[in-house]
Amino acid sequence: MNEYIHNVQMWLERIKPFVDEEAVEQLMLELERGDVVRIHGQVTNIYEQLQRKRVPIGGHTLPKLPYAYNALEPYIAEEIMRLHHEKHHQSYVDGLNRAERMMQQAREKNDYALLKHWEGQAAFHGSGHYLHTIFWNNMKPRGGGSPTGMLLQQIERDFGNFEAFQRHFTEAAKQVEGNGWALLVWSPFAGRLEILQTEKHQCGTQWTTIPLLVLDVWEHAYYLQYKNDRATYVQQWWNVVNWDDVERRFVKAKDRAM
Ligand SMILES: [Fe+2]
Repeated sequence: MNEYIHNVQMWLERIKPFVDEEAVEQLMLELERGDVVRIHGQVTNIYEQLQRKRVPIGGHTLPKLPYAYNALEPYIAEEIMRLHHEKHHQSYVDGLNRAERMMQQAREKNDYALLKHWEGQAAFHGSGHYLHTIFWNNMKPRGGGSPTGMLLQQIERDFGNFEAFQRHFTEAAKQVEGNGWALLVWSPFAGRLEILQTEKHQCGTQWTTIPLLVLDVWEHAYYLQYKNDRATYVQQWWNVVNWDDVERRFVKAKDRAM
């Protein structure tokens, strides 16, 4: 019985970042009490949660925006947010689903003549879908300011101070050549935060890093409001950063072992 409890504890530690953390904490308490009947029921619940996390092939959907389209005004106009979410993000979801289905078809038919094309589409649209999903949550109305707690400590450790981090990130965003992103990432291998640039959605990445804070500098993200003045858009964007979300992502990412 003790071995069973130990194994469940190890399993819970591993799955914690992917499921309802409160439920996991509760189960840890139950385990300490050794209430096996309750434990079994709850393990089943958590397993079902994990199952639900699996997106079927070609089954990606557009996530809801966590606020109204006009909520980030005056920094990001309603028209931009609406088009960006409803049209651009939707097109990445559709593109990813199509690429996944076409590759499934290639496997079924054992015909890989167009594989290179669909792999490229999956990389482009998949990265677009995932980065936009993070981006929406990285922002909130009345955001901005600076981070606190563990995230601030890590930023100070890795960049010297918050202002130095902010200058570096701002420059990275301004200097992306053409369409792309600036990203604050956690590097599990280096055990540090890093700032990266990505062209399009998928070029120039560093494998295994986990995006925490991402800034879309494609023209579709700012042109209707800021025209070609990307620098002002980037400067104004700091007013809507949701640092609570960035810290939440950091706390989950930093314990991820590679
Ligand atoms: Fe975008």
